[in-house]
Amino acid sequence: MKVVITGGAGFIGSNLARYWRGHHPDDAVVVLDALTYAGHRESIRDLESDGSFRFARADLRDASQVRATIQGTDLVIHLAAETHNDRAIADPMPFVRTNVEGTAVLLEAVRQLEIPRFHHVSTDEVFGSLELDSPDRFDESSPYRPRGPYSASKAAGDHLVRAWHETYGLPVTLSNCSNNFGPYQHPEKLIPLAITRLLTGGKIPVYGDGRNVRDWIHVDDHCRAIDAVCARGKLGSTYLVSAGWELPNLEVVQRILRQFGKGSESIEFVRDRPGHDRRYALDSRRLREELDWRPVHTFDDGLAATIDWYRANEGWWRTMISTAGAAR
Ligand SMILES: NC(=O)c1ccc[n+]([C@@H]2O[C@H](COP(=O)([O-])OP(=O)(O)OC[C@H]3O[C@@H](n4cnc5c(N)ncnc54)[C@H](O)[C@@H]3O)[C@@H](O)[C@H]2O)c1
Repeated sequence: MKVVITGGAGFIGSNLARYWRGHHPDDAVVVLDALTYAGHRESIRDLESDGSFRFARADLRDASQVRATIQGTDLVIHLAAETHNDRAIADPMPFVRTNVEGTAVLLEAVRQLEIPRFHHVSTDEVFGSLELDSPDRFDESSPYRPRGPYSASKAAGDHLVRAWHETYGLPVTLSNCSNNFGPYQHPEKLIPLAITRLLTGGKIPVYGDGRNVRDWIHVDDHCRAIDAVCARGKLGSTYLVSAGWELPNLEVVQRILRQFGKGSESIEFVRDRPGHDRRYALDSRRLREELDWRPVHTFDDGLAATIDWYRANEGWWRTMISTAGAAR
């Protein structure tokens, strides 16, 4: 089988490309990526000597590049996106162009080339925000209530995927996942930001009161979920992916500090992000019951492994910071 992973030079995509080559050695993997500030060839360098792996530099919005790359593919897994909320607030248009227009261009190519399977990777942020002290969690029937340019552009992309399924019969599945962490994540995101600040002797910026709750999952468990949905998911269906590690941002930072033997003197509270969603939480029962998926990592073992990875790969994250600049 030939599999194309869009956004495969980014955080989750590079982990997925590595996962796929490891778990499906008979499959050829092609990474399609435009190499924005978030995409980095070094994140897939170890795969490039592998004869069943190929990198294709292509922009999602360029129909001819996209068609040339996905022609003859059995499965397209779509992760390419603009993803960072702070950047979306400062400059929303690239999010609309890539996450909405780019997704439409890709869907059209999949339709015209009659690609037999398309999986769309999305986020829990499309559902909006929950109250901190409520027991509620989002499920597959929750209404979409995105509150920022990133989540609104991802929501629009999800709607396009469903529309292409309903209108043209495109063979699609979707998944909406909670906050990922693990190796190769850009140091602008909370966990690698905290780790790299501590490794360089700096302070960790925490938005507002730090009580915003996120539902965390190790990226390997997300890759396993994508694999399960691509293999056994029902066409036209959406699966929510969550390991259930709901933690306030401040607690996440404190757990990282403990692993460094440091205390709250290394935290710097900063002005809150406008429209900062208070809490996300997902009910992943459908994925667990229908597709027999379970997370393998606990939050703490995944965090310890992630810290070890950033300690051992200083060259990688220093290049990411110097070429893009951290967003905060
Ligand atoms: N990181 C998370 O916690 C999380 C959680 C749920 C869902 N997701 C979704 O997973 C996907 C991947 O997220 P990530 O954190 O790995 O993102 P990322 O920012 O690390 O990587 C995105 C990749 O997409 C590429 N890209 C951007 N615009 C492109 C374009 N126009 N054409 C081709 N390639 C382009 C970038 O070069 C980069 O390699 C996204 O769709 C995101 O919405 C992420």
